Amino acid sequence: MIVWDDQYSTGVDYIDKQHQNLIEHFNNFVDSVHQGRGRIKIGEMLGYLQFYTEWHFKREESCMHDHKCPVAQDNIEAHNYFKTKLDQMSTYYFEESDTDIGIIYDLIDELSKWIVNHILRIDGELRHCGVTPAYAKTQEMDAYQDDQKAG
Ligand SMILES: [Fe+2]
Repeated sequence: MIVWDDQYSTGVDYIDKQHQNLIEHFNNFVDSVHQGRGRIKIGEMLGYLQFYTEWHFKREESCMHDHKCPVAQDNIEAHNYFKTKLDQMSTYYFEESDTDIGIIYDLIDELSKWIVNHILRIDGELRHCGVTPAYAKTQEMDAYQDDQKAG
């Protein structure tokens, strides 16, 4: 379980909101594993997590690209690593159903540390990238429209 802490703030509100949602999806997945829910439920939670991660990473990568953040490329590479780890998790659940639960717990542990470190270290650089309130506003509108489409 990851608990949001104000020190995780990047100073960019809409990104912070997306990080809070990402953490929520991650926690829901972890909860379903801890509760020993079946593969269907766990798969559903993992699916939401993967979908949201993909969506959020794209948006955050665009933001860094648009503002020529020095860490933009590092961010993309870090994101790719995380996505690979989620794919690995998915493989454990759907292709190798006999995976030892210890391996799953280790991976969960690694992923939760990754999220916190990544937000603090790389995403925190956003605070120096000059994201304007006007830019943030258009991003929020876009996200809202995506939500409407998904709903
Ligand atoms: Fe990031």
